[in-house]
Amino acid sequence: MTTITPPHDPALDALWMPFTANKAFKARPRMLVGAKNMHYVSDDGRSILDGTAGLWCVNAGHCRAPIIEAITKAASTLDFAPGFQMGHPASFALAQALKGILPAGFDQVFFSNSGSEAVDSALKIALAYHLARGQPKRVRFIGRERGYHGVGFGGISVGGIATNKSTFAAQLLPHVGHLPHTHDPARNAFSKGMPAYGAELADALEAMVAAHGADTIAAVIVEPVAGSTGVLVPPVGYLERLRTICDQHGILLIFDEVITGFGRLGAPFAAQYFGVMPDMITLAKGITNAAVPMGATAVRGAIYDTVMQGTEKGVEFFHGYTYSGHPLAAAAGLATLKLYADDGIFARAASMAPVWAAAVHSLRGARHVVDVRNVGLVAGIELEPRAGAPATRAFDVFMSAFFDEGVLIRTTGDTIALSPPLIISEVQIDELISKVRSAIERAA
Ligand SMILES: Cc1ncc(COP(=O)(O)O)c(C=O)c1O
Repeated sequence: MTTITPPHDPALDALWMPFTANKAFKARPRMLVGAKNMHYVSDDGRSILDGTAGLWCVNAGHCRAPIIEAITKAASTLDFAPGFQMGHPASFALAQALKGILPAGFDQVFFSNSGSEAVDSALKIALAYHLARGQPKRVRFIGRERGYHGVGFGGISVGGIATNKSTFAAQLLPHVGHLPHTHDPARNAFSKGMPAYGAELADALEAMVAAHGADTIAAVIVEPVAGSTGVLVPPVGYLERLRTICDQHGILLIFDEVITGFGRLGAPFAAQYFGVMPDMITLAKGITNAAVPMGATAVRGAIYDTVMQGTEKGVEFFHGYTYSGHPLAAAAGLATLKLYADDGIFARAASMAPVWAAAVHSLRGARHVVDVRNVGLVAGIELEPRAGAPATRAFDVFMSAFFDEGVLIRTTGDTIALSPPLIISEVQIDELISKVRSAIERAA
């Protein structure tokens, strides 16, 4: 790996970077200055193969012309319109278009600006729904260990990633429980697709119902495939079991599909891929192909109807963002959905998934690889941690991948997470995996 460290650049001092080792980055910056289709361009002029669709979000590839044109047109026509007590056509049109690809029964969409806001909106909607149907005691949320639901106080409270919570532990939401996570390498290592073992882990929800009373639980929130924690594919039967228990006890089930939405698994949403219907779906990222920030919370019609009936007149739900359904985001969303349909992006991901599975599982046997997990066009490659230095091996792979191999990957703990744009070709899959292999060898 190249080890020349550039001199300190004061021009980098002012930015406090998110989820980044700031000092280390500023000592050795990694700058992206351009992007097209499957590639980024780095500031030293290299072409970088995008193995992560940015941050699991650029599903149709970078800088796609129809999306650029739609944003440009919107910016010069209606730069902003208030979404409170006023409307503009594109946000209504996008909600309608989303309905066209959401599972049947998801009749309303509430817009926000990020996955974190989509999650907070979903949690608030759950409380508003139970209140409106005369069950005000239902305030408890159940998340899952290793879950990631963004960084709002709601999201970190129901989330289960310790590092994201520990600094704020004194002020998290009260009345939150966590199901056990489903990562069980002893039984499931190197599973292709859904692991065979672990459906019974959903039964922990029964125990929580017994402990607290069903009438205190508002909602369960899970990622159908846990992404940020290192790609945990749900065991066969697990999501069905959660659905059944929620139904038995009047508990809402929220799927956080911020990563799994928009074709990542080869269906529009994970709900359709797994054939399990939640009550709410949170969305972001691929909704606009990440070209303009946007989040959304899709709900079943009965939830909207109930909340609407809760108030005779006036504002039914005291929640919203200045930029909910922003004209540029709505335009980008409409163009993105059209592009997904025109290019058959979701079907393409489905047809490429077996090629992807074979390629990522070829890393079994590479040095220090202790597990490979995959579904759709996502993979987690788990490395054996270095003794006393967790996460450093994977981070070295990340650095080598970027500087030596010219590929962008993502790491979380000692797991490499891959989630390329859904337009990746077979040749590019081979290139990505062989470069990841080289980076793993080099870091070893
Ligand atoms: C499942 C899930 N939920 C929520 C979020 C938060 O999204 P954002 O970073 O847009 O707030 C993410 C981000 O990766 C995510 O993966």
